[in-house]
Amino acid sequence: MRILFLGDVVGRPGRQAVAEELPRLRARWKLDCVVINGENAAGGFGITEAICDELLGAGADAITLGNHSFDQREALVFIERQDKLLRPANYPAGTPGRGATLVETPDGARVLVVSVMGRIFMDALDDPFAAVERALSDCPLGAAADAIVVDMHAEATSEKQAMGVFCDGRASLVVGTHTHVPTGDHRIMPGGTAYMSDAGMCGDYDSVLGMAKDEPLRRFLQKTPGARLETASGPGALSGVAVETDPRTGLAVRVAAVRIGPHLDETRPAFWD
Ligand SMILES: [Fe+2]
Ligand SMILES: [Fe+2]
Repeated sequence: MRILFLGDVVGRPGRQAVAEELPRLRARWKLDCVVINGENAAGGFGITEAICDELLGAGADAITLGNHSFDQREALVFIERQDKLLRPANYPAGTPGRGATLVETPDGARVLVVSVMGRIFMDALDDPFAAVERALSDCPLGAAADAIVVDMHAEATSEKQAMGVFCDGRASLVVGTHTHVPTGDHRIMPGGTAYMSDAGMCGDYDSVLGMAKDEPLRRFLQKTPGARLETASGPGALSGVAVETDPRTGLAVRVAAVRIGPHLDETRPAFWD
């Protein structure tokens, strides 16, 4: 099975890059499943229902979120009816929405997608490892799911790597999001799970984490109240990871970084291109 994961879509540049590239990539690479992190899709802060529909329409099968899940307050309501939109599974009980969903591919294969958030240098949520354990035991790889994708939305690479080790042999892909910077450590772990510490962002890299440069810089130089953070307005790049799984086991057999667009060193999965 061919799976593409794209990191945090930041504002219009990120959405435009997805809208322009993803339909083409989906056909060219014969993708079975696409998962996108959409926590910054609405001007850098959260997601609206119109944008959720736009990303699904461009070819996403599921959308994960993170610490910005509910920045757009309408998400508290529409997330209940958007069953492909996931907020972290370790939010407190009673939080609207869900943290995992089963996606069916055009060929009828079942992909479990799990969104979870780390706790180091982030809000104090429930234990992410316990939340992932519940999701994996409710829907085990090779039995109830043909592939499993875990988005570990976290700041600390130690916590992300630990989640990778925790899932090794039990998921197809564990990928980090949240830092907006792609890492170069994509690999298949000994148990057969593909891993990458951060997928990077889909957005304008001529920026500070996707936001126009002046205000973030000003906030580091002067500790005074300033302007609002605005999304950078240049053309966006796509960044993420491509994984091919063994259909019999659901484990990864190939993994490659994906970076397409301005400012980044472009790379595509040679095994599909
Ligand atoms: Fe983000
Ligand atoms: Fe985040």
